Amino acid sequence: MKVEQLPPVVSSLQPSNHPYLNGAWTPLHEEVNATDLEVIEGTIPTDIDGNYLRNTENQVHQPLGRHHPFDGHGMIHQISFSNGTATYRNRFIRTRCFEAEQIAGGSLWGGLMDGNAVSKRPGFGAHGGLKGSASTDVIVHAGKAIATFYQCGEGYILDPETLDQSGVASWVPLDGVSAHPKVDEETGELLFFNYFKSAPYMHYGVVDASGKLVHYTPVPLPGPRLPHDMIFSKNWSILNDLPVFWDQELIKTRGLHAVRLHEGIPARFRAHPASRKRRPDPLVRSRADLCPPLPQRL
Ligand SMILES: [Fe+2]
Repeated sequence: MKVEQLPPVVSSLQPSNHPYLNGAWTPLHEEVNATDLEVIEGTIPTDIDGNYLRNTENQVHQPLGRHHPFDGHGMIHQISFSNGTATYRNRFIRTRCFEAEQIAGGSLWGGLMDGNAVSKRPGFGAHGGLKGSASTDVIVHAGKAIATFYQCGEGYILDPETLDQSGVASWVPLDGVSAHPKVDEETGELLFFNYFKSAPYMHYGVVDASGKLVHYTPVPLPGPRLPHDMIFSKNWSILNDLPVFWDQELIKTRGLHAVRLHEGIPARFRAHPASRKRRPDPLVRSRADLCPPLPQRL
């Protein structure tokens, strides 16, 4: 195996006994290109040809407040298979926030467990106090890998072969994009949603096969929600309208974002036309009986 190491990133992280900064959770700071990976068992099939991509979180700097395992910067790992051989490379996603903290030499944003006041700069996405780390998900659309963050940050583009980076996807709206957008292989479209703390609380969008935003529309909900994923069928995208959202009182009084399952609010899913081209008139339907009864407050 040959390993080429890239120049080190700036890190201010100090040794600690934090359970999510040690052992299997120890942040990885090295970026490498490794070729001729050693096969430790069996052989790599010669008819596998392609790239496996995986997104992860790695804490780079000393946390400003309390550390949560979702707080780290996004890092894409790639294993590339071809002709019975495998290569590996990994890259931090060069988000605006990663670059800003590299320049600052330390954390500029607090984490999920902190109040927004901990952050030294305004944050991104629905939460408002977090850095946009593009660390939750990665999907390939229009020939490019797009890394996204579940709290609706910006979506970042990487070349799926080289992991070269092209910054924020041009179609990402100001409200950001949630993790887990979907690609409809039949149409080549990317279907996505985002969410936030003020009305209409959610948007739904469609990006065409060339990477152009062709549909972006409000999905009015009765209040804030913390959706995490979506599914789609030929004509519909199904969006979560679950009574899971931040405790509004805690946000007001302490600036904390504590997730609650709210009793007495029906759990629903909303079916939205999957594409403007397929169904020109936006229509939102909801059914309260699609979800089983909720458990008691967690
Ligand atoms: Fe997820």
